[in-house]
Amino acid sequence: MTEAVASTPSSLGGAANLAIDIHTHYVPHGWPDLATSDETAAEGEWPWLRIDTERDATIMLGTNEFRRIESDCWDAERRLADMDADGIDAQVVSPTPVFFSYGRDPIEAAKVCRIFNDLALEICAPAPKRLLPFAQVPLQDTDAACREVERCKVNGHLGVEIGNHVGDRDLDDAGIIAFLQHCASIGMPVFVHPWDLPKSPRLDRWMAQWLTGMPAETHLSILALILGGGFDHLPADLRICFAHGGGSFAFWLGRVENAWHRRPDAIATSEHPPSHYLNRFSVDSAVFTEPALKLLIDTLGADRVMLGSDYPYPLGERPSGALIRSASGLDDSVRTALLGGNARVFLGPAAVDRLRQ
Ligand code: CO
Repeated sequence: MTEAVASTPSSLGGAANLAIDIHTHYVPHGWPDLATSDETAAEGEWPWLRIDTERDATIMLGTNEFRRIESDCWDAERRLADMDADGIDAQVVSPTPVFFSYGRDPIEAAKVCRIFNDLALEICAPAPKRLLPFAQVPLQDTDAACREVERCKVNGHLGVEIGNHVGDRDLDDAGIIAFLQHCASIGMPVFVHPWDLPKSPRLDRWMAQWLTGMPAETHLSILALILGGGFDHLPADLRICFAHGGGSFAFWLGRVENAWHRRPDAIATSEHPPSHYLNRFSVDSAVFTEPALKLLIDTLGADRVMLGSDYPYPLGERPSGALIRSASGLDDSVRTALLGGNARVFLGPAAVDRLRQ
């Protein structure tokens, strides 16, 4: 390990002013061949990694190319160099959703989760103060998901990333609510990421699944927690954050509020109007424009928006945090909160202790 691996940028001051990127992803460089492993049945198309060069690889699903990736997905030194260049002290390192395996047999999915979660710890091990691992769980099986998040908490994961749905079950599903209640009870923060997007020929061009599908999916899952009564059944101390600025939600809150008051299908489906629940969740800052960031702050509050870049994927923000750092009209306390203060609250005491070490 080089010295740079273990260092923290001294120019960024003490723990109180750290810049923390809460939305990044990893892919491990190696995992067992799941199609032939004794650990998992040889069924369906398992993801595997085709190594193209020392710095490039391709996630494969069976014989199909899913995504080209680079070594910044698994190489701690490269990640840390990018963080230094961007002025980022710590990253939350979350799974890449293609590995969630929610559609598989729960026993197989639990094994996949253990394999990938353990590999995440290896990726983050060179810099425990700067690379903060989040786990994945077999969310299709509430008991198995609760067991895995507990195992991961003991092993050093600091939170959990979940997909925004499990097939046709959205976040207000009773099993998913039970899992979220468990996360609240053991103090594990939850990061919700859109995945498994609707497919159609209309969405199969110019990244339409990412450009329209992801924002709509995230909006829908926030509504599941609001209009579906999810938040009414969850403790207020659940720490939960949605990716990509919460998708379309902030822009359409007024329409949702109008429906809750005036449209029979939506009237009083939750105990309170939608705007009542705005202090129950956070969003990241990956929205790219100042007016969008301002809308999030004005809608949800300056304590509910956190730096999140989607590093290292191509739709992510680089340099990470550039929008928050450059946005006009933010006073210093708000900018500091968005860069890292809010993330420290979201991540909780275990992470803050690690950042201070
Ligand atoms: Co992402």
